[in-house]
Amino acid sequence: MTYRPFRPEDFAALYAIEEACFQPPLRFSRAYLQRLVRSARAATWIAEESGAMAGFAIVEWRAATGIVRAYLQTIEVAPEKRGQGVGGELMRLAEQSAQAAGAAAIWLHVDAENAAAIQLYEARGYRREGREANYYPRGRAALVYAKPLGQGAPVSS
Ligand SMILES: CC(C)(COP(=O)(O)OP(=O)(O)OC[C@H]1O[C@@H](n2cnc3c(N)ncnc32)[C@H](O)[C@@H]1OP(=O)(O)O)[C@@H](O)C(=O)NCCC(=O)NCCS
Repeated sequence: MTYRPFRPEDFAALYAIEEACFQPPLRFSRAYLQRLVRSARAATWIAEESGAMAGFAIVEWRAATGIVRAYLQTIEVAPEKRGQGVGGELMRLAEQSAQAAGAAAIWLHVDAENAAAIQLYEARGYRREGREANYYPRGRAALVYAKPLGQGAPVSS
């Protein structure tokens, strides 16, 4: 398995993984993902094996009141590539990009019933900070998890 930053020509393969991982109405639209992967305030990491995309993660960050905080937009591994540590490595790379952008912490939403993702986050030091009822379509609740990154620097903007 190799890991590298997203390139524009990856988009079709990335969206195929989105379609394999999520059904509507939980699936991100093409337009939404295009905006994310093009953002200067986001990083998209790709996992690939033998030239085929196995997964991806997108983290974005923003500054508020002088503190940069990162948000894990999504992490998705193709069903046949799960359970091999790909998700864990994509998380590590997303956190590395967030740290490089000066983020003091990273946070995320996860479906309260998504046991695999919750296990991944808890194993990587994320702590549950709350629950948002009806966050996802069809009344599904989200859990909010966060993790300090330790090297965040205050910014002037
Ligand atoms: C969540 C996801 C990214 C994990 O990817 P992965 O490559 O299988 O993750 P890893 O192999 O690194 O495993 C991470 C942990 O999850 C655990 N795990 C994997 N599948 C699991 C399952 N079905 N139930 C519980 N835990 C599970 C592994 O045991 C591992 O824990 P450990 O490190 O303590 O042993 C993957 O399941 C996925 O793409 N799911 C669909 C998309 C999704 O829901 N993304 C999260 C959006 S918030």
